[in-house]
Amino acid sequence: MLEVLAARRDGHPLISAHRGGAAYAPENTMAAFRNGAAIGADLLELDVQLTADGRMVVIHDHSLDRTTNGHGPVHAQTLAQLRELDAGSWFGPSFAGERLPTLDEVAAWAAGRVRLNIEIKSGPDTLGDLPEQVVATCRRYGIVQETLVISFDHVAIRRVKEAEPGLAGAINFTARLADPLGAARAAHANILNMSAGFISRELCELAHGAGLGVQCFMDNPERAVVLADMGVDFMDSDHPDVVRAAVRGRPR
Ligand code: G3P
Ligand code: MG
Repeated sequence: MLEVLAARRDGHPLISAHRGGAAYAPENTMAAFRNGAAIGADLLELDVQLTADGRMVVIHDHSLDRTTNGHGPVHAQTLAQLRELDAGSWFGPSFAGERLPTLDEVAAWAAGRVRLNIEIKSGPDTLGDLPEQVVATCRRYGIVQETLVISFDHVAIRRVKEAEPGLAGAINFTARLADPLGAARAAHANILNMSAGFISRELCELAHGAGLGVQCFMDNPERAVVLADMGVDFMDSDHPDVVRAAVRGRPR
């Protein structure tokens, strides 16, 4: 079993700091990742996209406008241009000067410290060789066994799994699928990552019976306990410390 899936064995779900823990620091920056690790997140979730010169940069939106002092599409600028931007001031003056990280920068820092939950965010038209670059970075830093790669682009996950079966892959979806197990099989995925409203005890049992994990976003600690009892294996949260304390406090 992949290490990141086996880690669930103690009976508690693993909690990802969504975008590093977006409630506490500017999302997808090193400041957020350092804080996410410090407050005890099991994994750090981050979003990766390709730049105009085909390099990997960590940012959620396809536009620079909300979380940096830049403008326009991420994929229209080179990595050197993107590295000039301020990705922290929008969140608070104490974060001024935070830069958009590269995936390699995050992976080098995270190796041996905390697991990563890497979301491939480029759309099909801008995907390029991003799946294969993500695999290469995970190999370069020796983090294949403890890393989870997720995406709404299920073809991207299939390409990751074809390049490196040792990486755990999750398919994200926000519509209710008629055949989630079939969708996972088609992408060679290990985990179903869906809207929490789709999750039931039956769905978790079905997934586990097929050797799959179940993941969702969850920021409400009371609801997180209910989902953990249903059998959810991974949760992403902007408040990972709060959600983790809630699910660890429940009886197994
Ligand atoms: O749980 C996955 C989550 O990261 C997907 O949503 O839009 O925040 O990247 P988003
Ligand atoms: Mg994400």
